Amino acid sequence: MSNSPIGVFDSGVGGLSVLAALQAELPGERFVYFSDGAHAPYGERGDAFVIERTLDIARQLVEAHGIKALVVACNTATAAAIGLLRAAYPDLPLVGVEPALKPAAAATRTGHVGVLATRGTLASGKFKALHDGLKTDRVRFSLMPCDGLAGAIERLDETAIQTLAAKYVGALGRFGHAPGEIDTLVLGCTHYPFIAADLQRLAGEPVRLIETGQPVAQQARRLLAAKGQLAVGGSSGSLQLLTSGDASALDAAAGRWLQVGAGAVALG
Ligand code: DGL
Repeated sequence: MSNSPIGVFDSGVGGLSVLAALQAELPGERFVYFSDGAHAPYGERGDAFVIERTLDIARQLVEAHGIKALVVACNTATAAAIGLLRAAYPDLPLVGVEPALKPAAAATRTGHVGVLATRGTLASGKFKALHDGLKTDRVRFSLMPCDGLAGAIERLDETAIQTLAAKYVGALGRFGHAPGEIDTLVLGCTHYPFIAADLQRLAGEPVRLIETGQPVAQQARRLLAAKGQLAVGGSSGSLQLLTSGDASALDAAAGRWLQVGAGAVALG
């Protein structure tokens, strides 16, 4: 079992930002990454659709690839379906991602945090519980559903990325270190770390951007270690990329955003 792969999936290429952190944390592991490119983006699709896709992809990864753990590298799918996945696979180590509100609440000095995420994530009961549990007299969160932004990143549509990023960052309010200004910005969708430089430029250099790749990777390590299922020492890692969509687009995104060694990637 310790030599079985770890499954990672997202609606599209966004989860590669989490996969990069997983590969850095667990270099000896085999990974199978599934991009649901034919159905991306998920953010404005509604829960029923996202749940159906998530359960179907998990089943494929379990049955056809014998994964030993699953990382749901998508905030939208985690919000909609992680509870159902846990019920369907009670023995499979499962790691989801959610917007990093807690670290942001600890980091902010002005008490004002901006959150960029999909409409689906922000509308979910899971997000509401997280948000309601963390907002206090000291910390408030301004929430921005970013319709179309993950899709633009998926298509590498530079014009749409710049237009939408400017619109949503601008609509959040004033950024800076004066009281009431936003000094911390949560990237609550796994596609957004790929445009972190654009978001940083728009928000201003002193603003702190917070993403979730590294804590998710550390949680995966903890769960596998607890089950005695980490890859045995000395084994070399590998990566298989799978997609329901355009294989060459996923290959290009992986080449751009991952440290992919020659021959490490098989498209299927
Ligand atoms: N990358 C995903 C997320 O973290 C999904 C974005 C989308 O498909 O709309 O929410």
